[in-house]
Amino acid sequence: MPVEGAADLAEWKPDSWRRCPALQQPEYPDPAALERVLAELRQLPPLVTSWEVMLLREQLAEAAAGTRFVLQGGDCAERFVDCRPARITNTLKVLLQMSLVLVVGAERPVIRIGRFAGQYAKPRSANEETLDGVCLPSYRGDIINRPEFTAEARTPDPDLLLRGYERAALALNFIRALVKGGFADLHHPEYFDLDWVEHSPLADEYHQMAQTIRDALRFMENVLGVRAGDSDRIDFFTAHEALHLGYESAQTRQVPRRPGFFNLTAHFPWVGFRTNQPEGAHIEYLRGIENPVGVKVGVDTTREQVARWIEALDPQRRPGRLTLIHRFGASRIADALPKLIEAVRAEGGQALWVCDPMHGNTQMTSSGVKTRNFEDIISEVEQSFDLHRSMGQKLGGVHIELTGENVTECIGGTRGPSEADLARAYESEVDPRLNYEQSLELAFLIARKMKSDR
Ligand code: PEP
Ligand code: CO
Repeated sequence: MPVEGAADLAEWKPDSWRRCPALQQPEYPDPAALERVLAELRQLPPLVTSWEVMLLREQLAEAAAGTRFVLQGGDCAERFVDCRPARITNTLKVLLQMSLVLVVGAERPVIRIGRFAGQYAKPRSANEETLDGVCLPSYRGDIINRPEFTAEARTPDPDLLLRGYERAALALNFIRALVKGGFADLHHPEYFDLDWVEHSPLADEYHQMAQTIRDALRFMENVLGVRAGDSDRIDFFTAHEALHLGYESAQTRQVPRRPGFFNLTAHFPWVGFRTNQPEGAHIEYLRGIENPVGVKVGVDTTREQVARWIEALDPQRRPGRLTLIHRFGASRIADALPKLIEAVRAEGGQALWVCDPMHGNTQMTSSGVKTRNFEDIISEVEQSFDLHRSMGQKLGGVHIELTGENVTECIGGTRGPSEADLARAYESEVDPRLNYEQSLELAFLIARKMKSDR
């Protein structure tokens, strides 16, 4: 249903965003050096292909129709130092394990989307940070500057864009090789056991479930003689916040035999809560690409904003094109989500609904440590399922900040850290992530919720 006065793509170019106010962009001391880097980035091979992008869009359309479920997860901010084989495999493992648990709970295929291979740029609430009277630019992610509190480290360096692109390529190359080589083969869930699975109280439940899946596959293949889809080749898609518009637009191009422009740095770029202004540069950038796109939405979202997002991003109401990733916070979702759903309906929108139970539930401890409470996260997810259901639709997925490492960043869960434990293994430079066990526990709770709702 094309809309009267829908935004005109003839006016759009990969860099037409430059006409609009662009928030959260770093200030480089040498703009000519930035331009040289962007010119080089434009020449490099892409990280993903338009075929994969379109496949994800089709799958997201199915998720919007309630026949698939999205699991999107990974670091808040990837760090260059974490481009290491063990780190990458641990992230894959936790996402795979969670997805198996969710498949069983949802009884529908799960689309796995990693916040990886490019999740390097971060929006910040303040442009500067002051420490002992010294004021420096805020850390904005490894692709922009470095976290150490020195003038040298905090000065945005355009070469980091190339370093980030290369690391994204290395990570993705490894992920693709692992998946192709059978790492994610459902016949062998032991390939993606994490070392500390054995010590977890969830281990038995998980292993029983993995055994059930293995048995079901054997039954289908040996007794019924049918191949169970792509059970030996599970796909991962990549996603990151499309924050640094120079980086995103440098790899936005046309491809042979398909109309339109594609962002080829990731399958699924999303725009964050701080840069989602309908008249802003980030929405202007997103509206011209063919990728499925996400918009983070939260409290204070107005009907008018919803109308303008839909008009700009999905004038033809194509299922799978637009995902609304809502992040209200456990105490506010009940009031805010139904209004948002009504606003989208009023526009005839076809959004896929994904719950991010992380970013509305961030809090500071009395000693000033950024954390999140597992109870709040669970509460927001459970309320999401109920609220969507009470409005006659389905929650289509979850978006989680997590890691396969044994960190202590979020409080709670069955064996989770308490506030006093946070210092033990707090690694994140930005937002606190669920550790391996908390992530798996969350998956079990979601699976139970989906089962009991059926
Ligand atoms: C994020 O996803 O890391 C983030 C900054 O989220 P939001 O834009 O929702 O605040
Ligand atoms: Co975050």
